[in-house]
Amino acid sequence: MTATKRRHDLVIAANRLPVDRITAPDGSVSWGRSPGGLVTAMDSVMRERGGAWVGWDGEAGSATRLFTHESMYLRPVALSAAEVEEYYEGFSNDTLWPIYHDVIVQPSFHRDWWRTYVSVNQRFADAVAEVAAEGATVWVQDYQLQLVPRMVREQRPDLRIGWFNHIPFPAVELFAQIPWRRAILEGLLGADFLGFQRQADAQNFVRACRRLLQVTTRKDTVTMLGRDGSSHTTRASAIPISIDYRGLETLAKSPAVVDRAAELRHQLGDPRILMLGVDRLDYTKGIRHRLKAYEELLQDKAIQPPDVTLVQVATPSRERVDAYRELRQQVETTVGRINGEYAPIGSPAVHYQHHSYPQEEMAALYLAADVMLVTPLRDGMNLVAKEYVTCRHDLGGALVLSEFTGAYHELHQAFVCNPHDIEGLKQTILKAINTPAHDKARIMKALRRRVADHDVDRWATRFLDALAVAPNRPEASIRAHQRHTMARRA
Ligand code: F6P
Repeated sequence: MTATKRRHDLVIAANRLPVDRITAPDGSVSWGRSPGGLVTAMDSVMRERGGAWVGWDGEAGSATRLFTHESMYLRPVALSAAEVEEYYEGFSNDTLWPIYHDVIVQPSFHRDWWRTYVSVNQRFADAVAEVAAEGATVWVQDYQLQLVPRMVREQRPDLRIGWFNHIPFPAVELFAQIPWRRAILEGLLGADFLGFQRQADAQNFVRACRRLLQVTTRKDTVTMLGRDGSSHTTRASAIPISIDYRGLETLAKSPAVVDRAAELRHQLGDPRILMLGVDRLDYTKGIRHRLKAYEELLQDKAIQPPDVTLVQVATPSRERVDAYRELRQQVETTVGRINGEYAPIGSPAVHYQHHSYPQEEMAALYLAADVMLVTPLRDGMNLVAKEYVTCRHDLGGALVLSEFTGAYHELHQAFVCNPHDIEGLKQTILKAINTPAHDKARIMKALRRRVADHDVDRWATRFLDALAVAPNRPEASIRAHQRHTMARRA
């Protein structure tokens, strides 16, 4: 539905809108859910709170008009084909992404990508300034929009500005490689509050400011002096993201999902052990390491199909970036080899699914899986781990979890692994299979309690509260915050 221009007390800016535009060859347009954990989390936050969401609609070309979607106002930002290539695929996903994930692959540095990143960030900032009411709260998301906080503040000093990083923030030794490191830090310091997944990420940021900007830092705050003698203080702390626990648990308890889980197991040949991996097809997720460990377990005859099988859901992602193309090729070659070597006819050792599924089907898969493999080499949080335990209301299943995920810092009772240690990973998988059911149930209960107590609503409330009391406080934003709180209560 199209909407008329209005100003909002809460404005989210994220690279993607919650829905993606899909234009068919005949020119007809449909909308699908955007990929990634960010959208899953923010979608439920915004459905609850209302407000405006500024973002890209996922296709190159002219922007769609402002429209409403489930109590949100969506303000599309247009990206040309060249901007998709340079700002999104290039600077965001081939420069920043590898640097922020500990250089698992080599980052590329190109000055024209940087120039496009600056101009696209400015376009997002202009859109935010256009839809924000006086004194509104602005919540910028993720590494694609790190310059937006300062750009918004320059136009609208009345606004309260927060930013949340969904991915890790690297150690200063890695961050320092970026030729435009000062501009990025200064861009972020336009915010009043910066949220990170882990304490270590927040500390890395503060350290980077101290080392690379020579500004004053005190515990979790950074103060920057303006040329006119003014000063602005930004606080940086950890507020780990989560999921809509109650919504997903209710879905997983529905008879349709419970029945579908049983049906799935049956369709997969009623294996004794069903293992599951669910990831965007990204080199940070440790899919190759997982497959290597699985292949060696088959080779050792420690496990054998049809007794054991693995479902790997690999959602297509960033398919025009070289590192992602190579990964896809390697994963698909490995899956083919494993099935060719170890699987009898009719009982694949790996069921590889290169597409995404609706939430109901995912909930059924989680409920059906005996062992969930979450093995990233580096991951800001990993919401799949939280989704899995949320769906296990039967206290069945076992979570194998990499210690290099943000989730590990909350779910450390899981079957923890270092995915680089293939021998250790194999042993952890076997342990997850062989631990007695009552011990696994006890672990699952503890994991579920943690997610239930720290759900996405608590995350959003903690973030917005921290933003509301962050050091600098324009009068207009105090009034707007009160207005918004009263409207929520009403
Ligand atoms: O948080 C990581 C992130 O890049 C999000 O910003 C994004 O929504 C998700 O992963 C999916 O990535 P992409 O938007 O590049 O498909």
